[in-house]
Amino acid sequence: MAESDRFNTIAGWTLAAGIVALGLSAVSSGYFQADKHHAPKEEGKAEGGAAAAVPIETLLASADPAKGEAAFKKCTACHTANQGGANGIGPNLYGVLGDNIAEGRGGFAFSDALKGKGGKWDFAKLNEWLTSPKTFAPGTKMSFAGLPDAAERANLMAWLNTQGSNLPLPAAPAAPAAGAAGAAAAPAAVVGDAAAGEKSFAKCKACHTANPGGANGIGPNLAGVYGDSVAQGRGGFAFSDALKAKGGKWDDASLDAWLTNPKAYAAGTKMTFAGIADAQERANVIAYLKTAK
Ligand code: HEC
Ligand code: HEC
Repeated sequence: MAESDRFNTIAGWTLAAGIVALGLSAVSSGYFQADKHHAPKEEGKAEGGAAAAVPIETLLASADPAKGEAAFKKCTACHTANQGGANGIGPNLYGVLGDNIAEGRGGFAFSDALKGKGGKWDFAKLNEWLTSPKTFAPGTKMSFAGLPDAAERANLMAWLNTQGSNLPLPAAPAAPAAGAAGAAAAPAAVVGDAAAGEKSFAKCKACHTANPGGANGIGPNLAGVYGDSVAQGRGGFAFSDALKAKGGKWDDASLDAWLTNPKAYAAGTKMTFAGIADAQERANVIAYLKTAK
């Protein structure tokens, strides 16, 4: 009796957790495209042109802990963050910033994957973790898709920092020279290599051609896809409603999110491809797609 109640509770938590994970979308790199003053609310909605990558340190400097507390609702199926709060599916997170990764926390049974990371949680590591737990620690028990919106991660970290940590915020890198034509990318942005990307495109060839006038297969021909409308044209290819609903045009940020995890980017997509975990490889493929027209 008690044992089956316990099972039902765990099953319920697991289901709730799955729903939470499904409701969240794409993982992305630690950078996203934004204009200097208005962070986009959704991945891939930034307009091109003078877009610049905004480092997380810059976003932290203007982060809003109150919004972060609201964002923490996405975590409360599994976590508490108050002092002395209980462990649930995930550990209590009081004072986690600045603390050792996967240690203590009232004896919480961490995965070997997270224990293997070592070191302490700082803003940079927490940012990576919250972008994509699975990418940060392959094999982690935290079944949470990640937060694709860098501004949301910054808000959340700013709030979490008020829960028993109070670390100084990291210094924001100097802004690129004002008025510089075509706004330079942030120093740490990954630069793609089109030749290497053409080799990686072998992973896509089972479903895609990329030469001009190439045939559609399981996936659409991709010639000229960079800068083109998402899920439109392409010789009448029958796109899923999921991808059609995204709207906008393919740019670096949206292609990066898509290629990281197609299913997370457009839940219900027909592209049955797990994604490319390596940011450099994604940048290479995107650089190649830019030349394929
Ligand atoms: C579906 C349940 C679930 C959700 C939702 C979830 N987590 Fe977790 N979290 C876990 C589990 C399980 C672990 C332990 C991971 C491991 O051991 O691999 C964990 C670990 C962590 C850790 C590492 C703690 C330490 O001491 O090293 C942090 C930080 C964290 N989660 C933050 C968050 C935040 C912030 C959110 C919301 C944006 C969130 N988690 C959403 C289940 C979840
Ligand atoms: C197993 C087949 C398959 C593989 C492998 C695959 N794709 Fe796709 N791809 C598709 C399908 C199907 C769609 C249409 C998705 C939809 O409508 O939801 C698509 C759509 C796309 C689109 C959107 C096109 C548009 O006009 O909006 C891009 C970009 C893309 N794929 C790039 C890639 C790249 C790059 C790779 C390799 C790294 C890759 N795909 C691997 C099947 C595949």
